[in-house]
Amino acid sequence: MSFKEKIDPERLPQHIAIIMDGNGRWAQQRGQLRVYGHEQGVTAVREAAEGAAEIGVPFLTLYAFSTENWNRPKEEVDALMGLLVETIDKEIPTLMDNGIRLNTIGDIESLGEDCRLQLRRAMERTSTNTRMVLTLALSYSARWEITRAAQRLAGDIAQGKVAPEGIDQDLFSSYLETSGIPDPELLIRTSGEYRLSNFLLWQMAYTELCFIPKLWPDFTRDDLYKAIVDFQCRERRFGKISGQLSI
Ligand code: FPP
Repeated sequence: MSFKEKIDPERLPQHIAIIMDGNGRWAQQRGQLRVYGHEQGVTAVREAAEGAAEIGVPFLTLYAFSTENWNRPKEEVDALMGLLVETIDKEIPTLMDNGIRLNTIGDIESLGEDCRLQLRRAMERTSTNTRMVLTLALSYSARWEITRAAQRLAGDIAQGKVAPEGIDQDLFSSYLETSGIPDPELLIRTSGEYRLSNFLLWQMAYTELCFIPKLWPDFTRDDLYKAIVDFQCRERRFGKISGQLSI
């Protein structure tokens, strides 16, 4: 029985987040430049997106570029941005064929004009697709997001739009980049590192974590399905005890 067949379609994670790690090491293991790993990583992005859409996962979020990634050597940053622009443009037919709507979170204004233009175009073209929302986290970090949310909320309080005693978790969530998107139920990180790396820290309070030793360019849809099967075998207690769960 394949991993796909083992998945219970009634209990799919409604939102899967992925930290796509290990492109650089994958390339270096092959005596290639790091950017070659990023290029090969695009195939794994397609595998994850098509694989998730195929089984009916409604939200998939990929950590494509963190605010900290700006500190990498300029050649790598430029190459990554170039790859993004090229990939987004080229992959529009794949997104359309799979009913995927493209979305972004992060400091999009900090990206180059070219990249913003391609993103805007792809988001417009795919805006009526309803099968899955694919969110790319670009120039994103959770601490940036939470700080910005606090600034915007403080602004609304100063203008009298929000009363401090009216702040609760739902209201605060609505100021985050992910407003309208459910919290991830499953996080997958490749490359054998056990870290969250400043990704969706508020949203992942109760996310199930799945760490995979494979490097990102080797990730296949079967790895995705295996992670979902693993997720479905876990008991999610949300602070309760086992006996309370069926009540
Ligand atoms: C982490 O590997 C990966 C990234 C920083 C970039 C991810 C980008 C892609 C998969 C390509 C394009 C993406 C899209 C959405 C079109 P790393 O470089 O940190 O690897 P290392 O830990 O081995 O150095």
